[in-house]
Amino acid sequence: LAVIAVILLLVILAIVLGVTLSKRRDDFNSKFMERCQKFKGYNCQKIWDAFQQAYVNRDRCDVPTEAYDPLIATAPFESLCNRMMFWSKTKNVVHDFTGAKDCFKTVEDTLLGSVLNELEWCGKSGSNETFTTGCPKWEECEKNAVRSFWNRVSAAFGDFACGNVTVMLNGSIDTPFSPTSIFASVEVKKFKYPKVKNLNVVLVIQKNSVTNCTNESLKNLTMGLDKGIGYRCFEVPESHLMECGSDPEKPCDVNIY
Ligand code: APR
Repeated sequence: LAVIAVILLLVILAIVLGVTLSKRRDDFNSKFMERCQKFKGYNCQKIWDAFQQAYVNRDRCDVPTEAYDPLIATAPFESLCNRMMFWSKTKNVVHDFTGAKDCFKTVEDTLLGSVLNELEWCGKSGSNETFTTGCPKWEECEKNAVRSFWNRVSAAFGDFACGNVTVMLNGSIDTPFSPTSIFASVEVKKFKYPKVKNLNVVLVIQKNSVTNCTNESLKNLTMGLDKGIGYRCFEVPESHLMECGSDPEKPCDVNIY
């Protein structure tokens, strides 16, 4: 009798686990579709299919950035000249700002960026499933599904840059332009003159900020810029950005800084 009870218990556990896992997968797909459908004029089913083919049936640490090429091609960016906002180590403040000021867009405000923002996913070789828990962490391996996606979409966003480009950097740290960041290692390298005319750095300053526009790492930024691209740096108190961000009526030009 005890053996039967144990077997029964195991069967029930397996069913519960199976249902929970498939519910998580459905949740992931629903969230993807729901977020995608907020953007008009795109075929979200086609985008989902292109997304999945990048990582399904692949080792969780062996997803090259190129695997996302078809996905990028399926969901091109809308025209964004003079309105593109890059960032590094300013995740919250930049998104509070672009969320309120419709004129500036980060990659997380575009279709692919917003659909996959804050999500976790991976595949497994020999399986056609999408897993949404237990995936490698950012630092665990370089070619994990999530990190490769952000590297790929950021390269595309950098490639797409045109006109006056803005980047929000963190004035509260020693190295606002960190060589290992996606902004430094992927995006800046894609800025090409004359398509990109000028780079505006908004250095976000807090009360105890240690950094200003003369920071050494910013010199590296200017030195690495494609010849011909202009450069300006603004030290902007975070409180000022909050005000601008919270007032959608304020105009959308350099004066916002
Ligand atoms: N561990 C976990 N997550 C990380 C790590 C890490 N070591 N490094 C980066 N990330 C993820 C986090 O989600 C983090 O918020 O990448 C995000 C951005 O990292 P930052 O170092 O703040 O900035 P950066 O690497 O420059 O990436 C931001 O890339 O997403 C594009 O266009 C966007 O310009 C922006 C840039």
